[in-house]
Amino acid sequence: MLAGQRGARRNAAPALFGKGDPPMTYTFTIAIDGPAGAGKGTLARRLADHYRLNLLDTGLTYRAVAHKLLELGLPLDNVSAAETAAHQVDLAKLDRAVLSAHAVGEAASKVAVIPTVRRILVEKQRDFAKAPPGAVLDGRDIGTVVCPDADIKLYVTASAEVRARRRLAEIESIGGSADFAEILADIQRRDERDMGRADSPLKPAADAHLLDTSEMAIEAAFLAAMAIIDDALAKRNKA
Ligand code: DC
Repeated sequence: MLAGQRGARRNAAPALFGKGDPPMTYTFTIAIDGPAGAGKGTLARRLADHYRLNLLDTGLTYRAVAHKLLELGLPLDNVSAAETAAHQVDLAKLDRAVLSAHAVGEAASKVAVIPTVRRILVEKQRDFAKAPPGAVLDGRDIGTVVCPDADIKLYVTASAEVRARRRLAEIESIGGSADFAEILADIQRRDERDMGRADSPLKPAADAHLLDTSEMAIEAAFLAAMAIIDDALAKRNKA
Protein backbone atom coordinates (compact mmCIF):
# COMPACT_ATOMS: atom_id res chain seq x y z
CA MET A 1 0.00 0.00 0.00
CA LEU A 2 1.32 3.48 -0.79
CA ALA A 3 2.01 5.69 2.21
CA GLY A 4 -0.37 8.32 0.85
CA GLN A 5 -3.24 5.86 0.92
CA ARG A 6 -3.00 5.25 4.62
CA GLY A 7 -5.39 7.10 6.87
CA ALA A 8 -2.98 7.16 9.78
CA ARG A 9 0.58 8.32 9.37
CA ARG A 10 3.29 8.62 11.97
CA ASN A 11 5.98 11.24 11.82
CA ALA A 12 9.21 10.94 13.77
CA ALA A 13 10.64 14.45 13.68
CA PRO A 14 8.98 17.37 15.48
CA ALA A 15 9.33 20.49 13.36
CA LEU A 16 7.21 22.96 15.20
CA PHE A 17 9.09 23.90 18.30
CA GLY A 18 11.72 26.13 16.71
CA LYS A 19 15.07 26.38 18.41
CA GLY A 20 14.48 24.79 21.79
CA ASP A 21 14.18 21.02 21.89
CA PRO A 22 10.76 20.01 23.19
CA PRO A 23 10.69 17.34 25.88
CA MET A 24 10.22 13.95 24.24
CA THR A 25 6.82 13.56 25.86
CA TYR A 26 5.54 16.90 24.59
CA THR A 27 2.70 16.69 22.10
CA PHE A 28 0.87 19.21 19.97
CA THR A 29 -2.63 18.49 18.76
CA ILE A 30 -4.55 20.06 15.90
CA ALA A 31 -8.24 19.12 15.84
CA ILE A 32 -10.13 19.62 12.58
CA ASP A 33 -13.88 19.10 12.34
CA GLY A 34 -16.46 19.79 9.68
CA PRO A 35 -19.04 18.25 7.37
CA ALA A 36 -18.28 15.87 4.49
CA GLY A 37 -16.64 17.53 1.50
CA ALA A 38 -15.62 20.81 3.17
CA GLY A 39 -11.92 20.19 2.44
CA LYS A 40 -10.82 19.24 5.95
CA GLY A 41 -9.01 16.09 4.80
CA THR A 42 -6.78 17.97 2.38
CA LEU A 43 -6.17 20.67 4.95
CA ALA A 44 -5.27 18.07 7.61
CA ARG A 45 -2.74 16.45 5.26
CA ARG A 46 -1.14 19.77 4.36
CA LEU A 47 -0.85 20.80 8.01
CA ALA A 48 0.55 17.43 9.12
CA ASP A 49 3.19 17.65 6.37
CA HIS A 50 4.06 21.23 7.17
CA TYR A 51 4.37 20.80 10.96
CA ARG A 52 5.57 17.20 10.67
CA LEU A 53 2.87 15.82 12.91
CA ASN A 54 1.20 12.43 12.82
CA LEU A 55 -2.03 12.33 10.86
CA LEU A 56 -5.29 10.51 11.46
CA ASP A 57 -8.42 10.71 9.31
CA THR A 58 -10.88 9.48 11.94
CA GLY A 59 -13.62 9.08 9.33
CA LEU A 60 -11.70 6.05 8.09
CA THR A 61 -12.11 4.35 11.47
CA TYR A 62 -15.93 4.56 11.15
CA ARG A 63 -15.62 3.52 7.51
CA ALA A 64 -13.58 0.45 8.53
CA VAL A 65 -16.39 -0.68 10.87
CA ALA A 66 -19.02 -0.09 8.19
CA HIS A 67 -16.92 -1.87 5.56
CA LYS A 68 -16.62 -4.94 7.79
CA LEU A 69 -20.41 -5.13 8.31
CA LEU A 70 -21.05 -4.69 4.58
CA GLU A 71 -18.51 -7.40 3.82
CA LEU A 72 -20.22 -9.78 6.25
CA GLY A 73 -23.64 -8.88 4.83
CA LEU A 74 -24.84 -7.73 8.26
CA PRO A 75 -27.26 -4.87 8.92
CA LEU A 76 -25.62 -1.60 9.96
CA ASP A 77 -27.58 -1.51 13.22
CA ASN A 78 -26.19 -4.84 14.42
CA VAL A 79 -24.64 -3.40 17.58
CA SER A 80 -22.62 -6.39 18.77
CA ALA A 81 -21.11 -7.05 15.31
CA ALA A 82 -20.29 -3.35 14.98
CA GLU A 83 -18.61 -3.37 18.41
CA THR A 84 -16.51 -6.40 17.43
CA ALA A 85 -15.53 -4.69 14.18
CA ALA A 86 -14.64 -1.51 16.10
CA HIS A 87 -12.34 -3.47 18.45
CA GLN A 88 -10.63 -4.95 15.39
CA VAL A 89 -9.88 -1.58 13.76
CA ASP A 90 -6.11 -1.22 13.35
CA LEU A 91 -5.14 2.41 12.81
CA ALA A 92 -1.97 1.36 11.00
CA LYS A 93 -3.95 -0.60 8.44
CA LEU A 94 -6.64 1.83 7.32
CA ASP A 95 -6.67 1.47 3.56
CA ARG A 96 -8.04 4.65 2.00
CA ALA A 97 -8.32 3.05 -1.45
CA VAL A 98 -10.76 0.44 -0.13
CA LEU A 99 -12.60 2.64 2.38
CA SER A 100 -13.15 5.75 0.27
CA ALA A 101 -16.11 4.29 -1.69
CA HIS A 102 -19.20 6.47 -1.47
CA ALA A 103 -21.39 3.62 -0.17
CA VAL A 104 -18.92 2.99 2.66
CA GLY A 105 -19.14 6.66 3.69
CA GLU A 106 -22.93 6.47 3.82
CA ALA A 107 -22.76 3.28 5.88
CA ALA A 108 -20.13 4.83 8.17
CA SER A 109 -22.47 7.68 8.98
CA LYS A 110 -25.02 5.06 10.10
CA VAL A 111 -22.72 2.99 12.33
CA ALA A 112 -21.38 6.25 13.79
CA VAL A 113 -24.65 6.73 15.71
CA ILE A 114 -23.92 3.68 17.91
CA PRO A 115 -22.52 5.06 21.21
CA THR A 116 -20.47 1.96 22.12
CA VAL A 117 -18.81 1.95 18.70
CA ARG A 118 -17.90 5.60 19.21
CA ARG A 119 -16.41 4.88 22.64
CA ILE A 120 -14.20 2.09 21.28
CA LEU A 121 -12.96 4.17 18.35
CA VAL A 122 -12.52 7.36 20.38
CA GLU A 123 -10.20 5.51 22.76
CA LYS A 124 -7.99 4.42 19.84
CA GLN A 125 -8.04 7.95 18.41
CA ARG A 126 -6.99 9.47 21.76
CA ASP A 127 -4.10 7.01 22.08
CA PHE A 128 -2.97 8.02 18.61
CA ALA A 129 -3.12 11.72 19.50
CA LYS A 130 -1.02 11.19 22.64
CA ALA A 131 2.09 9.92 20.85
CA PRO A 132 4.87 12.52 20.42
CA PRO A 133 5.32 14.77 18.55
CA GLY A 134 1.53 15.07 18.35
CA ALA A 135 -1.03 14.83 15.61
CA VAL A 136 -3.53 16.37 13.29
CA LEU A 137 -6.85 14.55 13.57
CA ASP A 138 -9.82 15.29 11.38
CA GLY A 139 -13.41 14.18 11.83
CA ARG A 140 -16.68 15.33 13.36
CA ASP A 141 -16.09 15.33 17.13
CA ILE A 142 -12.36 15.89 17.51
CA GLY A 143 -12.48 19.33 19.14
CA THR A 144 -15.58 18.52 21.20
CA VAL A 145 -15.03 14.92 22.37
CA VAL A 146 -11.84 13.20 21.21
CA CYS A 147 -9.34 15.97 22.01
CA PRO A 148 -11.19 18.68 23.94
CA ASP A 149 -7.80 20.05 25.10
CA ALA A 150 -6.34 20.28 21.58
CA ASP A 151 -3.86 23.14 21.13
CA ILE A 152 -5.67 24.27 17.99
CA LYS A 153 -9.24 23.61 16.90
CA LEU A 154 -10.44 24.35 13.41
CA TYR A 155 -14.00 23.99 12.14
CA VAL A 156 -13.91 23.78 8.36
CA THR A 157 -17.17 24.26 6.55
CA ALA A 158 -18.67 25.20 3.18
CA SER A 159 -22.23 25.50 1.94
CA ALA A 160 -23.91 22.24 0.88
CA GLU A 161 -24.21 23.59 -2.69
CA VAL A 162 -20.49 24.32 -2.94
CA ARG A 163 -19.64 20.89 -1.54
CA ALA A 164 -22.01 19.23 -4.01
CA ARG A 165 -20.47 21.17 -6.90
CA ARG A 166 -16.98 20.10 -5.82
CA ARG A 167 -18.06 16.48 -5.56
CA LEU A 168 -19.60 16.61 -9.04
CA ALA A 169 -16.40 18.12 -10.47
CA GLU A 170 -14.38 15.37 -8.78
CA ILE A 171 -16.58 12.65 -10.32
CA GLU A 172 -16.42 14.30 -13.75
CA SER A 173 -12.64 14.71 -13.53
CA ILE A 174 -12.27 10.93 -13.46
CA GLY A 175 -14.64 10.46 -16.40
CA GLY A 176 -17.80 9.73 -14.39
CA SER A 177 -21.15 11.45 -14.45
CA ALA A 178 -23.70 12.22 -11.75
CA ASP A 179 -26.75 14.30 -11.07
CA PHE A 180 -26.14 17.53 -9.12
CA ALA A 181 -29.52 17.41 -7.35
CA GLU A 182 -28.90 13.85 -6.20
CA ILE A 183 -25.44 14.68 -4.86
CA LEU A 184 -26.83 17.71 -3.04
CA ALA A 185 -29.65 15.67 -1.47
CA ASP A 186 -27.10 13.08 -0.43
CA ILE A 187 -24.90 15.67 1.24
CA GLN A 188 -27.87 17.21 3.03
CA ARG A 189 -28.95 13.79 4.32
CA ARG A 190 -25.44 13.07 5.59
CA ASP A 191 -25.22 16.48 7.28
CA GLU A 192 -28.54 15.88 8.99
CA ARG A 193 -27.43 12.50 10.30
CA ASP A 194 -23.98 13.71 11.45
CA MET A 195 -25.29 16.91 13.04
CA GLY A 196 -28.53 15.47 14.41
CA ARG A 197 -27.36 12.33 16.21
CA ALA A 198 -27.66 12.22 19.99
CA ASP A 199 -24.09 11.09 20.71
CA SER A 200 -21.27 13.50 19.73
CA PRO A 201 -23.07 15.39 16.97
CA LEU A 202 -21.02 17.44 14.52
CA LYS A 203 -20.77 21.01 15.83
CA PRO A 204 -17.99 23.53 16.28
CA ALA A 205 -16.26 23.49 19.68
CA ALA A 206 -16.81 26.76 21.56
CA ASP A 207 -13.12 27.62 21.11
CA ALA A 208 -12.79 26.52 17.45
CA HIS A 209 -11.60 28.84 14.70
CA LEU A 210 -14.11 28.82 11.86
CA LEU A 211 -12.86 28.45 8.29
CA ASP A 212 -15.56 28.75 5.66
CA THR A 213 -14.11 27.40 2.41
CA SER A 214 -17.20 28.20 0.28
CA GLU A 215 -15.37 31.06 -1.39
CA MET A 216 -11.86 29.94 -0.56
CA ALA A 217 -9.42 27.71 -2.43
CA ILE A 218 -7.65 25.07 -0.37
CA GLU A 219 -4.38 27.02 -0.56
CA ALA A 220 -6.03 30.05 1.05
CA ALA A 221 -7.56 27.83 3.76
CA PHE A 222 -4.12 26.34 4.40
CA LEU A 223 -2.54 29.80 4.73
CA ALA A 224 -5.32 30.95 7.06
CA ALA A 225 -4.89 27.85 9.23
CA MET A 226 -1.11 28.30 9.29
CA ALA A 227 -1.50 31.90 10.47
CA ILE A 228 -3.71 30.73 13.36
CA ILE A 229 -1.29 27.95 14.34
CA ASP A 230 1.89 30.04 14.02
CA ASP A 231 0.32 32.70 16.18
CA ALA A 232 -0.51 30.12 18.88
CA LEU A 233 3.02 28.68 18.66
CA ALA A 234 4.63 32.11 18.94
CA LYS A 235 2.60 32.82 22.09
CA ARG A 236 3.53 29.45 23.55
CA ASN A 237 7.24 29.80 22.77
CA LYS A 238 7.22 33.22 24.45
CA ALA A 239 5.50 31.93 27.58
O1 DC B 1 -15.18 12.03 7.04
P1 DC B 1 -15.84 10.83 6.43
O2 DC B 1 -16.78 11.18 5.32
O3 DC B 1 -14.85 9.79 6.01
O4 DC B 1 -16.71 10.17 7.61
C1 DC B 1 -17.62 9.13 7.37
C2 DC B 1 -18.67 9.13 8.46
O5 DC B 1 -18.08 8.75 9.70
C3 DC B 1 -19.32 10.47 8.71
O6 DC B 1 -20.47 10.68 7.90
C4 DC B 1 -19.68 10.42 10.18
C5 DC B 1 -18.67 9.46 10.78
N1 DC B 1 -17.64 10.14 11.56
C6 DC B 1 -17.96 10.45 12.86
O7 DC B 1 -19.08 10.24 13.30
N2 DC B 1 -17.01 10.99 13.68
C7 DC B 1 -15.77 11.25 13.23
N3 DC B 1 -14.86 11.77 14.06
C8 DC B 1 -15.45 10.98 11.87
C9 DC B 1 -16.42 10.44 11.06
